[in-house]
Amino acid sequence: MITDLAIRLAVPADAPAIAAMSRDYIEQGLPWSWQSQRIARAIRDPNTNVAVAGRADALVAFGIMSYLETDAHLLLFAVHHDHRRTGIGSAVLRWLEEVAQAAGSKRIRVEARRDNTAARHFYNEHGYHERQIASAMYRDGVDGIRLEKWLRAQS
Ligand SMILES: CC(C)(COP(=O)(O)OP(=O)(O)OC[C@H]1O[C@@H](n2cnc3c(N)ncnc32)[C@H](O)[C@@H]1OP(=O)(O)O)[C@@H](O)C(=O)NCCC(=O)NCCS
Repeated sequence: MITDLAIRLAVPADAPAIAAMSRDYIEQGLPWSWQSQRIARAIRDPNTNVAVAGRADALVAFGIMSYLETDAHLLLFAVHHDHRRTGIGSAVLRWLEEVAQAAGSKRIRVEARRDNTAARHFYNEHGYHERQIASAMYRDGVDGIRLEKWLRAQS
């Protein structure tokens, strides 16, 4: 299904909902590091884009990408569980990738928990390849997978 939800840049009012989604969907079982203040800093950061879909009081999805010289880094990404498998994650990811491409990024990096099969399938489906297993990358001892997608040919 193709989503018809508009994707927009986050505003400060979106920070609490993004932080809550990070706590519930990404950092569950771990110390909550992406709280509202940190999200608000990312929203203000000129080298970072926080993209969202949905209203601040009914957020459907978000993605945070930082743009650093030739690399872009997808820092945090989630879709509300009631809206998964409807294409909204793909739409938000494509939005962030288009900005990275326009900004001249050569590649996008992202990490996922090794046991997060949904995310690994999702990123693989979008052309990210798994380049490294990072042993015990997460505080609960779970391994991480480093993925990357090349936007321009490697020189
Ligand atoms: C991973 C996540 C972002 C995917 O978002 P989504 O909106 O459901 O993804 P889409 O609907 O755009 O899916 C696109 C494709 O990715 C793959 N995919 C997505 N979720 C999948 C799952 N649970 N199992 C297998 N493949 C999956 C499928 O190929 C899917 O296409 P299909 O539905 O036609 O089969 C979502 O499951 C999520 O928020 N998970 C919790 C947070 C998280 O893990 N974030 C990423 C780590 S930082």
